[in-house]
Amino acid sequence: MPKKFYITTPIYYPSGNLHIGHAYTTTLADILKRYKKLDGYETYFLTGSDEHGQKIEQKAEEENLTPMEYLKDKVESFKTLWNLLYIDYDKFIRTTDVYHEETVKKIFTKLLEEGYIYEGKYEGFYCVSCEEFLNSDQITKDNRCKISNNAVVVVQEDTYFLQLSKFQNFIENDVLASDFLIPAYRRNEMINSFVKPELKDLSVTRTSFSWGIPINENPKHIVYVWIDALTNYITALGYLQENDSNFNKYWGDKDTEILHLAGKEIIRFHSIYWPAILKGLNLRQPNHLLGHGWILSGGTKMSKSIGNVVDPIKIIQKYGADGFRFYIAYELPTEKDGNFTEDLFVESYNAHLANNVGNLISRTNQMITKYFEGKLNHSVIKMNSVVEKEVISTINNYKKLMDEYKISEATRVVLDLGKTLNKYIEEQTPWTLAKEERFEELEEVLITLQKAIVAVILLLKPILVENTDKMFNDMGISKKQIEIINFDNILEMKFEKIESKQILFNRIK
Ligand code: ME8
Ligand code: MG
Repeated sequence: MPKKFYITTPIYYPSGNLHIGHAYTTTLADILKRYKKLDGYETYFLTGSDEHGQKIEQKAEEENLTPMEYLKDKVESFKTLWNLLYIDYDKFIRTTDVYHEETVKKIFTKLLEEGYIYEGKYEGFYCVSCEEFLNSDQITKDNRCKISNNAVVVVQEDTYFLQLSKFQNFIENDVLASDFLIPAYRRNEMINSFVKPELKDLSVTRTSFSWGIPINENPKHIVYVWIDALTNYITALGYLQENDSNFNKYWGDKDTEILHLAGKEIIRFHSIYWPAILKGLNLRQPNHLLGHGWILSGGTKMSKSIGNVVDPIKIIQKYGADGFRFYIAYELPTEKDGNFTEDLFVESYNAHLANNVGNLISRTNQMITKYFEGKLNHSVIKMNSVVEKEVISTINNYKKLMDEYKISEATRVVLDLGKTLNKYIEEQTPWTLAKEERFEELEEVLITLQKAIVAVILLLKPILVENTDKMFNDMGISKKQIEIINFDNILEMKFEKIESKQILFNRIK
């Protein structure tokens, strides 16, 4: 039985167009899915849209549309972006999908019957843009939300509460004391800011607007954001539905590796509320939540509500999906905030894709073609053993880092191998070997490069999806071989005569 991997992104609000921040999370998820697949896992990748709430209701009204009319184009635009970025998701969930709405009602009822939800009254501050109730320390002196910078509203209404206090011990001593939340330093952050001061019960229904899922017990209440949104991770698999085979297969199996991705502003919801809801439903916990930093623009979070966003479609159309995916993978490590500007992008593209990887493939391709008519004799001459060892240790390091979801560090390990190989060319000076007619030595150098470069390409395959086949072809790897290549047989590939030389990662001027 293959190992299983279930990975999710947050479901994004269709209250505006997606920007680089959203593309960041989704691309990271896609890279991890592709990596796991290459590593022999059976994978399932979920993304989607979070379509209920006051903000969507207001946006639709502004445009004189019903919410569903308003949402149609927005959701299409999500999917367009994911297609442009080669995002290989297995399912796209919309929280307005009927199966989801019906299941959320059942989940609500279940939590109510188990005694984890009770009826009460809420009084406090609310940020419509974030769809979040705020504590006083989340608000500026002039009553603005510190995250969206929008004016907060005071809310006073009947509501049902999720009794988080019942999970205090579980969250503190189980969830946040384990390796669940990555990076580790965020665990204390959560404990100190939210758990230690005591977990406040969470308002989970609203009565002051109607665009949401009405609960069966009291239809003037609609489920408010988190029970609706977080549960998408299990309703999408068929939880409490007639066809629950994916749920049983992925969530129902304790051996499935389950990973959620989320930006730091919603780590709290995913590392406190979500584990509590799952516990209340008597379901297994996910293995990990990878919480990542923000992409900043002008020093503040790039955000729809602030309006300082970079449109990823423009970048992809100008430079291609791979350059964009590479920047995300390498230049934006998840443990801290990062920056995106076009200048930084071009600099990174030229340094790593053009001058390192692209150049390496192109030079080697040219030399094999020029000196050996495209075909080296691998049966007689073997790869240089020092370089071979380096390749093997690169593969091992890379896998170890990717297994810890350290995509940027794993990418660096591959780029380092690329640099080593470029240096190897400089040191071996194949052109001199050719001039001096030392053909055996020359062939060994090129065999070494050809094999090592195939490893570089494979390790970059989860990232550079648009160009990998071309890169492999340029090294003499056939379509058939591409289908079977994996981390174990990298160094055993058969080479065809190299016929092609394609344009890869030209320097951007
Ligand atoms: O929060 N930098 O949706 P959302 C990095 N619907 N990542 C960013 C980013 C930035 N500047 N801006 C957005 C919601 N993101 C809820 C989620 S999940 C059950 C419900 C990414 O449209 C990041 O992953 O506000 C963040 O967590 C997510 O988009 C928030 O998207
Ligand atoms: Mg947000």
